Amino acid sequence: MIAPPLATSWVQSQSFRDVLYIIAFSLFIQGLRGLAGPTTAVRGNRIAAVGMAIAVIATFLNPQEGNWGLIALGIALGTAVGVPAARQVKMTAMPQMVALFNGVGGGAVFLISWAEFRLTGGFAHTATYITVFSLFAAIVGSVSFWGSNIAFGKLQEIIPGRPISFGSAQQIVNLVLVILAVAAGADIAAGDQSEAIFIGMLLCAALLGNAVVLPIGGADMPVVISMLNAFTGLSAAATGIALNNPALIVAGMIVGASGSILTNLMAVAMNRSIPAIIAGGFGGGGAVAGAEGAGEHAGTVRSTTAADAAIQLAYSNRVVIVPGYGMAVAQAQHAVRELTKELEKRGVEVSYAIHPVAGRMPGHMNVLLAEADVPYDQLKEMDEANPEFARTDVSLVIGANDVTNPAAKNTPSSPIYGMPILEVADSHSVIVIKRSMNPGFAGIENELYYDPKTEMLFGDAKSAVSEITAELAQI
Ligand code: TAP
Repeated sequence: MIAPPLATSWVQSQSFRDVLYIIAFSLFIQGLRGLAGPTTAVRGNRIAAVGMAIAVIATFLNPQEGNWGLIALGIALGTAVGVPAARQVKMTAMPQMVALFNGVGGGAVFLISWAEFRLTGGFAHTATYITVFSLFAAIVGSVSFWGSNIAFGKLQEIIPGRPISFGSAQQIVNLVLVILAVAAGADIAAGDQSEAIFIGMLLCAALLGNAVVLPIGGADMPVVISMLNAFTGLSAAATGIALNNPALIVAGMIVGASGSILTNLMAVAMNRSIPAIIAGGFGGGGAVAGAEGAGEHAGTVRSTTAADAAIQLAYSNRVVIVPGYGMAVAQAQHAVRELTKELEKRGVEVSYAIHPVAGRMPGHMNVLLAEADVPYDQLKEMDEANPEFARTDVSLVIGANDVTNPAAKNTPSSPIYGMPILEVADSHSVIVIKRSMNPGFAGIENELYYDPKTEMLFGDAKSAVSEITAELAQI
């Protein structure tokens, strides 16, 4: 630690900085409340950003801060990379960005722990509890950094989305890495000041981050991202305890707690078990039929036109719209809203069935549909929507694929086996709008397209929906 300079004013006192930290984390909590709904989310984000600015100022007021040149360089680099990236990112690429930013958080945590190790001469004369929290932060931060990078690579399709694993030896590999990392940590906590052991511990954690995320298949990435997010939060909270920084403790715990709750919700929605995720035996275990499998199905696909689809919809009593990632790519939400209005004018009852992992981020469909002013009561979550398909005349699937794939129920070898789906095949007929027979994110063929009830309307979601609306107006 750097020795404190002698002269400090009251604004630099620990008590004043603590008050600022309390204001900062109160704003984080208030901001998080705002994130609960699409209409208050932007305000919530701004409130949390003000909180973060106050926390940064409080940290700068610490009289022990000294290396202003390095701090300025860090701020300049972070701003130069972060601001354009956040401004330019497309909504559909948000999960990759979240994975990257999350990884950066984990990376910062393990680097801080490493720096503390060096500054204190291998935690010599450091209270044992601080050493333990620092080591915990180093291990979990490193797992999170490497795991998040793999998640980014999979989502960005730089590395294959299919599970990559050591097969049945995977769990043993993971267990050995956990034991080695914890043993190295215990050795350091017991007084060994060897930096080689510390680096070895970081390396085991790095390998573990890779080994946990590589075996996870595409469709299961949402659970993994929120799990890594929780890891980063917990490691940041541990760093906060080690550095005696209340804002970091509270912010880290908020991220850790909300990430854990989200992981649990996602795992329940996907019918997955969290211990299985951590053990690496996740994703159904079956080989993924790749994109090349598309079109090799023995069944027949029926295609339709916008005019025929309009007739079917116009003479229905009840229509359920099933949006997916393709609606987001095409930015078709406003066109979909116009179609709904046109149908409602004709007395058709319209609702939207929302799968918890439709799109590429939690709440993706809700955000898009809220932006198009779709009334909230028309949005039905999966559990509420599924029993209603049997009394639905037409299910209109717009750019959704995996979340409607019956292989999740019928094919035990499928990587999505066990994941609950929207049971669109129960409705009297199904119209699917997509551009081709290409698979969705999980890279597997969809049996729904060969169901005799299903008709495919090939085209971009926005143009196809607008064409149907135009045809409807003529009927
Ligand atoms: P997907 O299974 O990814 O399918 C989307 C479909 O949209 C594709 O088959 C594609 O077919 C079609 N499409 C793309 N652009 C289009 C356009 N301009 N117009 C019309 N159609 C278009 O989507 P889903 O059903 O929403 O399922 C989401 C998947 O992502 C799940 O596997 C889920 O696990 C995974 N995932 C979700 C999240 C979260 S948290 N939501 C995060 C990461 C991953 P064509 O190419 O033939 O048009």
